[in-house]
Order: sequence, then structure tokens, then C-alpha cells
Amino acid sequence: MMNALPEYRRTHTCGELKGVDRGRCVRLAGWVNKRRDLGGLIFVDIRDRYGLTQVFFDPAKNETLFKLAEDLKQEYVISVEGIVSLRPEGMINASMPTGEIEILAEKLDILNDACVLPFNMGEHQNLDENLRMKYRYLDLRRQPMAERMLLRHKTARAVREYFDANNFLEIETPTLMSSTPEGARDYLVPSRVHPGKVYALPQSPQLFKQLLMVGGMDRYFQLARCYRDEDLRADRQPEFTQIDVEMSFIERDDIINMIEGMLKYTFDKALGVSLQTPFPRMTWHEAMDLYGIDKPDLRYPMIITDVSDNVKDSGFQVFDSTLASGGRVRGITVPGAGAISRKEGDEIITKGKEFGLAGVVTLAFNQGQPKSPLTKFLSPERLNSLRELMKAGDDDLVLFAAGEQSAISVALGKLRLFLVQRFQLPKTSEFAFLWVIDFPLFSFNEEEKRIEAEHHAFTSPLPQDQHLMDTEPLKVRSNAYDIVLNGVELGSGSIRIHDRTMQEKIFKVMGLSSEQAFEKFGFLLKAFEYGAPPHGGIALGFDRLTAIMSGQESIREIIAFPKNHQALCPMTGAPVTPAPEQLKILKLKLDVPEEK
Ligand code: AMO
Repeated sequence: MMNALPEYRRTHTCGELKGVDRGRCVRLAGWVNKRRDLGGLIFVDIRDRYGLTQVFFDPAKNETLFKLAEDLKQEYVISVEGIVSLRPEGMINASMPTGEIEILAEKLDILNDACVLPFNMGEHQNLDENLRMKYRYLDLRRQPMAERMLLRHKTARAVREYFDANNFLEIETPTLMSSTPEGARDYLVPSRVHPGKVYALPQSPQLFKQLLMVGGMDRYFQLARCYRDEDLRADRQPEFTQIDVEMSFIERDDIINMIEGMLKYTFDKALGVSLQTPFPRMTWHEAMDLYGIDKPDLRYPMIITDVSDNVKDSGFQVFDSTLASGGRVRGITVPGAGAISRKEGDEIITKGKEFGLAGVVTLAFNQGQPKSPLTKFLSPERLNSLRELMKAGDDDLVLFAAGEQSAISVALGKLRLFLVQRFQLPKTSEFAFLWVIDFPLFSFNEEEKRIEAEHHAFTSPLPQDQHLMDTEPLKVRSNAYDIVLNGVELGSGSIRIHDRTMQEKIFKVMGLSSEQAFEKFGFLLKAFEYGAPPHGGIALGFDRLTAIMSGQESIREIIAFPKNHQALCPMTGAPVTPAPEQLKILKLKLDVPEEK
């Protein structure tokens, strides 16, 4: 029939044939997804990354072929030639793109067989993740993974289209370099040509993108690979991708507008979702005050409210003593949780303690009736005004904590996120974006007892706070901004310092002498002597973005070949012990304590 084509060449993919193709002679190639032997017929679903198509073998039509089909096992690679026919009435599968048709097989070629599989390809939940990673090539064949890879591709393409249309140049920066200023540990690569010396893999292209601005490139972006040796979590990988951006002759809002435009375009193109811009903005102080965290999840409306003035002099010992010693009383309202059991109440209190609260005082409303240790201390009027302040409805639960203001806010912020999960509170939106602006310029590293840059050392202070630099540096706010999506830090950026005197001042506050700073970042400081334009930028985590777009908790789900939480690759076995020969060439000696 199709003699001109080698048997592995196909006429169509497994996801495209429809009712209108009825009667066509086609050839498909792919993997055996499933074989069912039913009433003397064999049905085989053949799969490729585009979808599934049902093929059937009828012994009455071709007995030899039927016998061959009996040998088919899961994941065999086959090609099938046949005629597209409409499925009989009642057998149509509307949830499947090719569900109207099936192929009546006329020729079958087994292109390759497959061993017994390490896991059930049809199972989507509860599969051991390390096993999936060990056999990632099998895992990638599963439809959800194929869909995620497609989404990642479409997102990358849309990002590139958008920046191209806005005059940006995509420029690659080195991955073998010296150290970057991001603050995690570097991955090092020993040099053979220069024994004893190492390259560092970039934690980000930060310094190079600033140099590109000095080089007059004006608008730069890159889907950049970054490497950080840090503790891993669901949203952290040792190697990851950033949408990295830098622009010259701009101010903060130019970056914010550009990124909002990029996200709007990308969500539309890759996901068909129309985002509402501009995104809300909040200062870092507001975020910490209302949500107890610098990346509030705005899908849930609960906020932290200060009730100190409403509960003062109540006779309730814990509140009175805290307020007398300068502390605050703050609370949050949990919608619909007023009727929780005693056990659930105890669970909340235990959690609160875990998060650093001395205690949690509950005020539960059940059909409007209050139940709380506070009822003995507050008059019905005071209780009512407290309820109004907390915006508590007839069946809501209010939780209070007393203590030092920022400590209880942070703990209540953690409790808020716990409660959202615990009570499965309803979301008000699918994608809640937020800009957090005016971060502190510095923070105090308690462990090392020194001041460090909150974002990085090249972030500029807000002009109105510059006078505090020498006297109260920890009060200086920066021209830095984060973009948050669903409670995840999606990206960070800042307007950079392009003035040498200011840069030296910042290094001084951080306890770096000019010599030390020059040793670390001398090439950038040198470049700044030759006419650096005012500039700024941002980087967004591309893996985090696409994970959230595809509804995944972990970025490992959207990375083709991720590392596990111990930074290992279960498939290749990386990292591996170097061969003695390799060490010799690099003039390195290992000094690894023997495993017990
Ligand atoms: P920052 O260090 O905040 O800023 O990183 C920017 C964004 O990169 C993502 N990200 C990660 N994603 C996965 N795994 C990791 N280990 C990881 N670490 C960071 C996050 C984060 O918001 N050069 C600056 C940006 C700038 O100032 O322009 C920078 O890298 O989504």
C-alpha cells in the first residue's frame, strides 16, 4: 500500500485523525499504550506525544495480522497501516481528540520491543519520584509530562517573541566565570590549563548583564541557565533557568510595565488565559504587616489585623501584660472555620507554637454565637466591635496572638498558610500576581553578625533614604522589587547603582574595603569608570513560572531532567567520583572522609 515509505515513516501523528478523515489510508507510528483483547477482536491504543489513536485487529479480515497483534506488549514501538473508520455508535469517546475514529489495521510492523516496565505507565499519582527520574525517558512518554514540556516550550517561545517585538537582544553570557553576587554557594569547575584554579558556574548573569548595559546593548534578555549550591526545596533546583532582563535609561516602572506586558502576552499565547494588568503593588512593610511574609499569597483574602487598641485593659492577663511591655495583639480570621472541633483547635495551637507563638487565643462563631476565653473579659459591645474589626462572619474563627509585633506577624503569616491548606479555604483567583516594592536595602546576618545586601550589592537605595546610609543603614529602603505569584517569589530585580561613590559606600556598610570589593567585582567597578548608563533589571524563575502555569507544586515536574532533593540525578548517577586519571590531569587530590 505505502511501499514507497520505509515502515517507520508515518503519514499522521497519533493525535490528529478525526471523523472527516474517514476512509483514508494512513500509517501511524508510536508506542503501544494499551492492548485489550475483546470478544475476538484486539484493540491497541498507539501513542506518541501528540495523542492516542485506537487501532483494531479483526481476525476475520486478516488472521496472520491478528496473530502478530497478540504478541504486542506495552511500550513496543510499532507502525500500523490501515483505514480510518468511524467508531460504532456508543463507542465514541468525546474526551479524546481522536475519539470519533479508529483504524482498521491492514499492516503491522514491530519496530522495537520493550522490557518489562519499572512502573505502570497509566498511573499518574503515587508513583515514586526517584523511580520516575531514574526512568525519565519513560516518564516523559506519559501524556501529562508531554503536555508540560509543550507548555514550557510555548512559554519560552512567547517570551522570546515578546522581547523581540520590544527591541530586546537575546545575548548569551558565560557559564565558566568567576563568582557572582547572589549569595548562595558556587559550583566550581577546576581548570586543567591553570592547575589549582577554578571557574565558578554563574548563580545568575547579573554582572554580565550590567556589563552589557555598559556596552551599550540597551535592552537585553536571556533564558539563562543558573547554578546554585543551596538547600533544595520544591521550588529550588541546583540548576535552573531564569528569564533574565536588563534595560538602560529607565526607571522602576518601566521594568514593571515591561514585565507585566510580557506575562500578559505569555499567559495568553501559552495558556489562553487573559491576565488583568496592572498587577497590585504593596510595599515590603505593608506585606510584612498584613501577611507576615514578603511574598503574600493573594489568592486568599485573609489579612493580619492589629487589635491592640480594642483589647487593652480587658483584664485578660496575657494581652494586658504583653501590651504593657510594648508588645502587640494581632489576629486573623479564618472563614467558615467557626465550628471546628476541640481537636482541630488544639492542632492550631500546636502549629502556632511550632511557628513561634507563645499561645493562640481563639474566638469562634457558631451561627453567630461567640465562644472564647475572651467572653469573660470583654463586654458584648467590645466583643462586637472586635468582631467588626476582624470582619468575622457568623461561622468564622478568629485567632489572636500576643507578642513582639514583627515576630507575631511572621508567625501568624505562617499560620495563615497552614490554615489555607488545612481547611482547604476557597481561592478567589487562579493566578494572583503582586509586586512587592521598597525592600530594605540591607539585612542583618545574625549568624555572621554583619550587615549584608538584602538583594545584592549593586541595588540602589531609594533617594529619599540615602541620608540614613551612615547612621541607620538598616532603615534604608532600596529600589528593589519582587514579583510574587500565588505566594511564590517569581522574580526579583532592582534599579542598579551606576555611581561609583555610592557603590563604595554600600560596600563599606557591608564591611567590604575598596580592595576587597575590587578583588571580587573589580571588572565591573572598572567598567563603571568608562561611562555606565543608568540601568536596572529583573530575573524571573522560568521553572517556577511554568510550574505554576501548569498547576504543579514542584518545579521538578516541568524540568525534563531534574535533580532530586539531594541534588542527585537518579538516572545518570551524577555527581560521580572522578577517575584517578582525571584527578591527575587536574592536579587534584581528594580528601573525603571514609564512609562508615
Ligand atoms: P534572584 O536570586 O532573586 O535574583 O533570582 C531570581 C529568580 O530566580 C528564581 N530562582 C530559582 N529557581 C529555581 N531554583 C533555584 N535554586 C532558584 N534560585 C532563584 C526565583 C527568583 O525569584 N540577578 C538577580 C536578578 C536581578 O537583580 O536582575 C537574581 O538572580 O524565581
